[in-house]
Amino acid sequence: MEKYVIHGGKPLHGQVDISGAKNAAVAVIPAAIMVRGVCRLENLPEISDTDKLLHILTYMGAQVRMINRTTVELDCTNVQMDTLPEEMWAMTRKIRASYYLIGAMLGRFGRARSTMPGGCNFGVRPIDQHIKGLTALGADVRMTGGFINATAKNGRLRGAMVYLDKVSVGATINIMIAAATAEGRTVIENVAREPHIVDLANFLNSMGADVRGAGTDVIKIRGVKTLHGGTYTLIPDQIEAGTYMAAVAAAGGAVKITNVIPKHLECISSKLREMDVEIEDGDDYVLVRRDGPLHQTNIKTKPYPGFPTDMQPQMTAVLCCAPGVSVVTEGVWNGGRFKYVAELKKMGASIEVDDQSAFVQGVDHLTGATVKACDLRAGAAMVVAGLAAEGVTKIEDVVYIERGYQDIVGKFRALGADIACVDEPDEPDAERSAGWVAG
Ligand code: EPU
Repeated sequence: MEKYVIHGGKPLHGQVDISGAKNAAVAVIPAAIMVRGVCRLENLPEISDTDKLLHILTYMGAQVRMINRTTVELDCTNVQMDTLPEEMWAMTRKIRASYYLIGAMLGRFGRARSTMPGGCNFGVRPIDQHIKGLTALGADVRMTGGFINATAKNGRLRGAMVYLDKVSVGATINIMIAAATAEGRTVIENVAREPHIVDLANFLNSMGADVRGAGTDVIKIRGVKTLHGGTYTLIPDQIEAGTYMAAVAAAGGAVKITNVIPKHLECISSKLREMDVEIEDGDDYVLVRRDGPLHQTNIKTKPYPGFPTDMQPQMTAVLCCAPGVSVVTEGVWNGGRFKYVAELKKMGASIEVDDQSAFVQGVDHLTGATVKACDLRAGAAMVVAGLAAEGVTKIEDVVYIERGYQDIVGKFRALGADIACVDEPDEPDAERSAGWVAG
């Protein structure tokens, strides 16, 4: 199996270019189903989640033409949703964003069918707010045998008032997509405000939709009959940028992180500044420098503009070596999203988890070990920890990391890190071996 091998303890220096935003791309690609005509998407990240979605669209009859590594032309004019092969369902089951196919198919065909979505396992990931919103728009949504089936009454959705009981990125996006071509006006209240919500609204508007208020907590959509083709450039990835910022904080050094929107990084920059990391904002870059000791801090994750949950594991990895006790509290996902803590402990971290909080007692240094990427951001945290640690870190299950980070190995190597992707058998799993002996 492929794994990353890191000889850590080397400061990072140089410049790294951030790719397009994963969570914008995985919304925009399904939304393109609504577009009749050629939709050119630029700054698309080269990651496995976008690859899978492009494959799914191909199965549905879209013409997908790669112009270069990060630009694609999609023509969904002839897309159909019937007679889809089993391979497509195998893919929709693997990714979270496949639920956006429901909103897009409902908007385009007045009916939709997809599997229950996959994605990182943080415990229970309900979709009740998606269903509430689509039902308010006039869809009859049913879940049977691992599939979601939805049908719009009279073949077309109708605008409606929707109040989200929980701020949800996915529900906000799904309802926005579906409402873009619904008859009449939709108002969605208590919506998510993440940068990728604004990016999706900008994409839909550039294809002829009328979506207003994205970035505030109320989005108003006046439905249009159809969406037309056009060109759209995705925003840079806030979390990829934040991960490189965290890596410099952990390993030390000075790095210019380019192709970013510094405003999107403010929540991350201010926490790193509290930890005595220097951050200088430019127009489309941030300079990150750390050469002295780190300072402890406390972090609580919240929906945007709060501190992003998708940076929680990487920041915990940084705080492992900050003297004193730091408290990291998960405020978005129930169940804490702390599975990775067991992996950091293998590297000598001192962390206790109690319910939604991790109490991190700073240690002098981390030591390389063989660890697993439990999910996408947990895997990124292992890379951050491995770059800072003394000795050799081997990270298994890197397939999770490649769902969301374009060329992470190449980018860190260009910053002077000693990291390589190697193909070698996994070390025997202690738990599995124990089961074998007992069983
Ligand atoms: N929730 C509900 N009901 C719903 C939907 C969500 O109770 O119908 C709850 C969730 O259980 C959670 C909270 O609301 O406690 C927020 O969930 P949200 O719907 O915002 O999450 P998501 O749309 O499933 C997206 C990102 C995640 C990111 C979260 C929060 C995508 C594809 N995924 O997930 O990204 O953690 O928003 O910002 O956009 C990642 O990139 O690593 C990742 C997991």
